[in-house]
Amino acid sequence: MDRSIYCGLVRSSHIDEEITLCGWVDRRRDHGGVIFLDLRDREGIVQVVFDSDAGKFFDLADSVRSEYVLKVTGKVRSRSDATVNSNMATGEIEVYGTELELLNSALTPPFQLDDHITVGEDVRLKYRYMDLRRTEMQNSLRFRSKITSSIRNYLVNDGFLDIETPIMTRATPEGARDYLIPSRTHAGQFFAMPQSPQLFKQMLMVAGFDRYYQIAKCFRDEDLRADRQPEFTQIDIEASFIDEEDIMSTSETMMTQIFAEHMGVEFQSFPRMTYADAMDRFGSDKPDLRIPLELVEIKDLLKDIEFKVFAGPANDPACRVAALKVPGGAEISRKKIDDYTKFVSIYGAKGLAWIKVNAIEDGIDGLQSPIIKFLGDKVTLNVMERLNAKNGDIIFFGADKSSVVSEALGALRCKVGEDLNLYTSKWAPMWVIDFPMFEATDNGGLTPLHHPFTAPSCSMEELQSDPANALSRAYDMVLNGVELGGGSIRIHDQKMQAVVFEVLGIDEAEQQEKFGFLLDALKFGAPPHGGVAFGLDRLIMLMVGADSIRDVIAFPKTQSAACLLTNAPGSVDAAQLRELNIRLRKQED
Ligand code: AMO
Ligand code: AMP
Repeated sequence: MDRSIYCGLVRSSHIDEEITLCGWVDRRRDHGGVIFLDLRDREGIVQVVFDSDAGKFFDLADSVRSEYVLKVTGKVRSRSDATVNSNMATGEIEVYGTELELLNSALTPPFQLDDHITVGEDVRLKYRYMDLRRTEMQNSLRFRSKITSSIRNYLVNDGFLDIETPIMTRATPEGARDYLIPSRTHAGQFFAMPQSPQLFKQMLMVAGFDRYYQIAKCFRDEDLRADRQPEFTQIDIEASFIDEEDIMSTSETMMTQIFAEHMGVEFQSFPRMTYADAMDRFGSDKPDLRIPLELVEIKDLLKDIEFKVFAGPANDPACRVAALKVPGGAEISRKKIDDYTKFVSIYGAKGLAWIKVNAIEDGIDGLQSPIIKFLGDKVTLNVMERLNAKNGDIIFFGADKSSVVSEALGALRCKVGEDLNLYTSKWAPMWVIDFPMFEATDNGGLTPLHHPFTAPSCSMEELQSDPANALSRAYDMVLNGVELGGGSIRIHDQKMQAVVFEVLGIDEAEQQEKFGFLLDALKFGAPPHGGVAFGLDRLIMLMVGADSIRDVIAFPKTQSAACLLTNAPGSVDAAQLRELNIRLRKQED
């Protein structure tokens, strides 16, 4: 094509040079006898000018429209002082066009390719190739490419080998539903797409590769949110003959370097907090430590009051009664409190009691609240003392099942922190450690908090006798309240693995059927090993400040797990189904 330079890279140093550009018409302006074309490519925009001296090329320039694809030859010249645009990287120069070739025309774009886009996301996703032309999207994906390449460099330099693992495989339990692939050659049987490369990376350790990494696609059929996609990417890491400290320090160094190099941000430290502490103090296993608010337990102060709403949970071991003090929150309006009450109801909270502190020196008269009459003066003042209440505070209360209170007040803490802009730092990385091995299921059983290959911190005997209270050797990295990654030291002893399956109620036949290959591998000299996986999409989302991971994925899926661009998933013809031995049940409308 003979392109000599990218549009966005032309500078004053090119003045008087003849250059050839290829790109899209961002904007065409007709200034009576002079046509200005803003020509755009992946590096940016440059202004091209055609006047009548260009002859037939002037007429051609006059006929082009937005998003036409052009090849332009011209001479770089400086702009007059009055027309210099200091907001543009190419704003000091323009290209005086001498030749123009129309490489392709374009329909009128379905939406304006502005950065302050107002069109709905559905339209953006349907015409994703147009949406991706916008500077913001170009920048995000380019940034993503830089980050993956830095991560690869870091890990390769640290001795990790990039090894691919299969997409067509068996189920890997990470807690979500599987995407299945029917087998043609084995009638009635299915591959599962991996929820993560977990079992394969463990077997690579058994195979002696010692240090593995992969930028791996993972597939999970789960409820989608702003930070979840059915198909997403992990920075997946595993190593042998290591312990928690090795994995955590490798991870910290990697993140620290990447943030320093690409964001100019210096992480000072990665504080560690136990899961129990995180739940107690922040109501979350991924606390946002940028917000200086904490939940305070007040159960013991409320055991003897009449008010059933609080006294009930205060006397129930499965419940908690907690308070969240918000300095400056006395300003919050009744209407806003109603909004917060609605907000916590999403998490199952049945109400949101509150006390405003107007004049603490006036004792009970200095407080304002609908619940003081239920608590009584003495208890109220005790609560104020426990919370070290100050004038201008509002205190919110939650009383319910422990999980409801933690989730509701934990989420409220983040919401209020955002609304009142209480952030004390821009970045708050941390680790959550000492997770329980299991959590209770609704039907009284146990389910792994991470995955069933996570090693317990206790002995096999202790695990068997009191599984519900066993802690694991798992760790999660959290950044600004987002779970960025998680991992653990694994079980490398086949007997321990069998005990975990037993605790989970997976009998021997099922163990063999589902994970026989892993149990076998553990019998053939499995080294002690462990690892971690980071959500690449989430990392990029946080780094570029996007609201959704869809904005840092070239071709994401919608909330209902569909691709609007390709119309996937789609139906297949009867012959294909027959070949796969699949008969569809009649769909009801
Ligand atoms: P886990 O399930 O915690 O661990 O996943 C690791 C990280 O992957 C990201 N992530 C997601 N990102 C986008 N969309 C999703 N649906 C999604 N699900 C998870 C998160 C998460 O922290 N095999 C283990 C890791 C290990 O033990 O080494 C695993 O997959 O950022
Ligand atoms: P009620 O007696 O139900 O009107 O509740 C009195 C106050 O307590 C109201 O401000 C409610 O929002 C609040 N409240 C009710 N149930 C709970 C609960 N489980 N936790 C916290 N506050 C509650």
